[in-house]
Order: sequence, then C-alpha cells, then structure tokens
Amino acid sequence: MIGLGYVGLPTAALTASAGHTVLAYDNDAALRESLRAERATGSETDVAELLASALRDERFFVCDRVQPADAYIVCVPPPTAGGRPDMRHVEAALADVAAVVSSGELIVLESTVPPGTTERVVRQALRGAGKSFLNVHISHAPERILPGDVVRELRENDRIVGGRTREDAEKTRDLYASFVSGEIHLTDLRTAEFVKVIENTYRDVNIAFANELALFCEEIDVDVWQAIALANNHPRVNILEPGPGVGGHCIPVDPLFLADQNPFATELIQASRRINERMPNLIVRRVVGLVGEGDGKRKVAILGASYKANVGDVRESPARRIRDLLDERGFRTAVYDPLARLPEAARSVEEAAENSDAILLAVDHDAFRDIDPVALAPIVRSRVLIDCHNFFSEQTWSACGFRVYGLGRGSHFTFPQALSRQQSTTA
Ligand SMILES: NC(=O)c1ccc[n+]([C@@H]2O[C@H](COP(=O)([O-])OP(=O)(O)OC[C@H]3O[C@@H](n4cnc5c(N)ncnc54)[C@H](O)[C@@H]3O)[C@@H](O)[C@H]2O)c1
Repeated sequence: MIGLGYVGLPTAALTASAGHTVLAYDNDAALRESLRAERATGSETDVAELLASALRDERFFVCDRVQPADAYIVCVPPPTAGGRPDMRHVEAALADVAAVVSSGELIVLESTVPPGTTERVVRQALRGAGKSFLNVHISHAPERILPGDVVRELRENDRIVGGRTREDAEKTRDLYASFVSGEIHLTDLRTAEFVKVIENTYRDVNIAFANELALFCEEIDVDVWQAIALANNHPRVNILEPGPGVGGHCIPVDPLFLADQNPFATELIQASRRINERMPNLIVRRVVGLVGEGDGKRKVAILGASYKANVGDVRESPARRIRDLLDERGFRTAVYDPLARLPEAARSVEEAAENSDAILLAVDHDAFRDIDPVALAPIVRSRVLIDCHNFFSEQTWSACGFRVYGLGRGSHFTFPQALSRQQSTTA
C-alpha cells in the first residue's frame, strides 16, 4: 500500500483484516512513526481499531520504502495544483513501485485521475525503471467513499475496476473481493477513470443547479427548500440542496480534470463550477446587506469550519472561504466547530457569538441542533441570523428577536430599508 492517508490507511487495514500481509508505505516519516505506535491521529475510530489489531497480529508492517509485493495499491493525494491536474504525487509513487515491481505482479492506481492517466503514468514509470509495460498487470480502482463512515463504505460500496486487459481487471477484482461485499463492476482503464470523475462532476453540477434555483427563488418570493422537496416527489427528479458552496478535495476538484482536458466540451461543467465558487461571495454580500460593511468592529460568529456536515475535514471548505472574505472586508470573525481541529477557534457557540453582529450558520452539523437562541439573544450585539442550510427554525429565532436570512427563502429575506430592490438583485 502506497499512501496511508484518509483513504489509503483504512484500505490497507481492511486488506490486512481480510488475511493479506500488508507492507504499508507513506512518504511522510512522522506519519509512519505514529502508525507504528498505533496512533492513527485524525482517523475515524474503527480505522484506528482495525490498524491496532492488524499491527498486533503482524499482518500490517509500516515500511520505510516501497517493498516488493504481489500487488501494489497506490493511493496518494488528489493531483491538483491551482485548479489544474498535477501528477507529481502519482508519478513519484509509481516510480517507487516501478523500481521494485516484477513480471506478473499487479499495480492498482486508486487516486482519482483524468481519463487516460493510469496507462500513461504507469507506462512512463516502468520505462523509467527499464521494465516492460506488458509484463505487469495494471488497473484503476477509484475510491467512492463518503467521509464519516469510511470503513463501512469501503466494505459495502459497489466498486468500479478498470483493467488494461480483462485479466488485469479480474486480478484486481479478486483482491478487492476479499474485503468488499458490494458488487465489483469490471471495465477498461479509461472508462473507470471517467466514471469516477463524472460521479463527482454530476454532484457539482446538480448542486450548482440548486444554488441557481436558490438565488432565483429569492427574487420571486418562493422558498427553494420547499420547492426542491416538492419537485423531488417526482419519481425521476433528484435535485440536491443549495448551500454556501462546495468543498472537500473531490467534488470541487474532479470537474476540473474534465475542464482541463477539453475546455470547449465542458461549458456546463465550468459554469457549474463558477456558480458554486461564487456562493461564499454571495453569502458575504448578504452579511453586508444585513449588518453593514466591515468596519474593524463588526463581528460575525461563524458556526462550522469543515467542508460539510458532521466531518472535521476543512479542506476546500466554503466556510473557510467565507471567513477569509469577511476578514478581507474588515469584519472580525470567530469560528466555532466542534469537529474541526482549529487552534484559533472559539471553544463554544457562546464564546463565538458574544458581542457578534451576526451569527452565520455555514455548516449543518447535527451538533448545532441544540443551539438555543434564547441563550444567545442577550449576549450578541445585534440579533441577526444567516442560515445557509435551512437548518434553524425561523419562527423560533424570530421569536427571540433575530432577523433571519435563510438562503433561497424568498420573502423570508428582507434587505434593510436603505437597500433598494435593484441593489439587492446585483448583490
Ligand atoms: N478523501 C476522500 O474522501 C476520497 C474519496 C474518494 C477518493 N479519494 C481519492 O483518494 C486519493 C487519496 O486521497 P486521501 O484523501 O487519502 O489523501 P490524503 O492526503 O489523506 O493521503 C494521501 C497520503 O499519501 C501520502 N503520499 C503522498 N505522496 C506520496 C508518495 N510519493 N509516496 C507515498 N506516499 C505519498 C501522503 O503523505 C498522505 O499521507 C485521492 O486521489 C482522492 O482523490 C479520496
């Protein structure tokens, strides 16, 4: 196993629990040391348990370099830099594999990559090591887990396996079938790469559609949440929810692989990206519309820092972008997130909300359900709630004197008198 991060470590631990001997390598020496000490910091609990038992049973060995094996699974970071595919991690990992791989062994690339990449980079790596492409089995087995329940997802999700040949795909299926109970669908390399990328692109486009509807609804006094719920009663309609943007290191990134590969054939994909990218700016404009410009004194309490509900991962988080934009516009900000580990964050909702001019719900963590506006009303400076997820009861917060802006909630949102209708449409 090469790459022991969020996906690689649980995959390696599961492979060991299925009875294989796993020789695990990550180029982060500090990570290797903590894994040897059974410290899977930041991992979900069941991953840490699986790792501890595999280490104790001597089925899992943390190695200081890539070791010869029957199969090599490469799971290194998503290849992007500044919005463009960047194959450096994948190439470096495959060069290490190429140095030790022998005829008849299997190389599986799990990292999400643009269509056509696996064959090209493996061929390049093997050529660099003076080895023949034809003697090695090659496949792409993209990962489709949803963070938060990674072990169950790894076990139970269906998988797509693309092989350079049918035999390569079948060899990979046999390996994964030892710990995957979901169905394993076989195809060719390029199709497997494409399928993984379009799954995330589909979600990005669908969310952009929901965001466009949200902004439209604000103009025509319709509640988008109700409208989408009603539309989704239709058996062939499934619109996702609007929100303050799209985060994580998959959904906002994978569409760029296609856009980069063919800018002229991806107009919808690129427009969707732009819509979702703009959402944090829009939310910040709503803040300004409600409480005035940042003047160095006005404070916004941001609830949530992670990129989505009930996880602590802050990568590409819209909440983070909102905070940066507010800081740039001269607001003081305080963030509270019970799941994300941020040294600078407030330790409680109350600490974040104290003397604030607006409370902004950026992430719909279940843990925020208990927030009581009765307790917050006396400690804030002005009672304004900005709810990006239709999460809180407007009635309850209004009853405590809060002005509530809910994204996409039509007439529920009223700009201050000073701001004309025309200004609001340009916001
Ligand atoms: N995280 C997710 O939810 C998710 C879901 C589906 C697919 N994926 C895909 O899985 C892949 C891995 O993602 P992740 O979330 O596990 O990333 P990660 O950043 O958590 O982990 C990657 C690990 O690879 C290591 N690494 C980097 N270069 C290396 C090299 N040359 N040799 C050895 N180790 C190296 C890093 O030190 C790191 O520990 C990505 O391509 C991603 O797109 C991730």
